[in-house]
Amino acid sequence: MQTETEAPVTELLSFRKVTRRYGALTALAGIDLDLSAHAVTAMVGPSGCGKSTLLELVAGLQEPDEGIVDVLGATAAADRRQACAYMPQRDLLLPWRDALANAALALECQGVARSRARVRAVPLFERFGLTEFEHARPAALSGGMRQRVAFLRTLLQGRPVLLLDEPFGALDAITRADLREWLAAALADEPRTVLLVTHDVEEAVFLADRIVVLSPRPGRVVADFEVDLPRPRSVTSTAFAGLKARALEALKA
Ligand SMILES: Nc1ncnc2c1ncn2[C@@H]1O[C@H](COP(=O)(O)OP(=O)(O)OP(=O)(O)O)[C@@H](O)[C@H]1O
Ligand SMILES: [Mg+2]
Repeated sequence: MQTETEAPVTELLSFRKVTRRYGALTALAGIDLDLSAHAVTAMVGPSGCGKSTLLELVAGLQEPDEGIVDVLGATAAADRRQACAYMPQRDLLLPWRDALANAALALECQGVARSRARVRAVPLFERFGLTEFEHARPAALSGGMRQRVAFLRTLLQGRPVLLLDEPFGALDAITRADLREWLAAALADEPRTVLLVTHDVEEAVFLADRIVVLSPRPGRVVADFEVDLPRPRSVTSTAFAGLKARALEALKA
């Protein structure tokens, strides 16, 4: 129950003048952003501009050197951690656990008993086209399947904010295109506050409600615009091409 002393829960994910340094290297400089809840925001930027750092700040795995990160009203790192499910840049499935046990891991870490965690994971395997692969080890799965298991594990945590760091980064072009359609459908089914990091502008226009473009390091916001296209989106439409060109232009500048 909320008491008078508690901060009100906001519907925003906010960065207030956020700067993050690693020693002499400034990764992010003066990030000021308000992102709406229940929307997909894509963060696009060149390699090394601080995208993963930004997700780790939201996830409460790092603290800013300056400024405040506010995740739906939570500003302390421990509270930010509670609000977020983080899918890191590499899939990080444990090779000795089968797909189901990997998916259940996130819940086990939250203190759910192993058998219960597995029972909760099973329906998602069906929904995500992974039935009959529950007992396969990661090495026996394709790259696309491994990413779906990693995504499923992220979703299963039941947190309001999903942080996806280059979810399709390591995949070939065809699998990538398949998976982004799949992710669009999964997010339409289950709307969450999503922060998606990618360096692929087309992926950003395909999936996001809003695109924030970062400069080369130190990352600063250089463009920020809405993607006001109906879903499902067609990459061949003129409007799609226009938004893609706009994001590319910002990236080049
Ligand atoms: N723990 C760390 N210690 C020192 N420097 C770091 C650390 N983590 C990141 N950096 C540096 O900070 C900068 C931003 O890194 P970050 O991983 O956030 O960038 P990124 O945009 O995610 O890059 P990529 O697109 O390659 O994944 C890089 O120059 C990186 O080398
Ligand atoms: Mg990164």
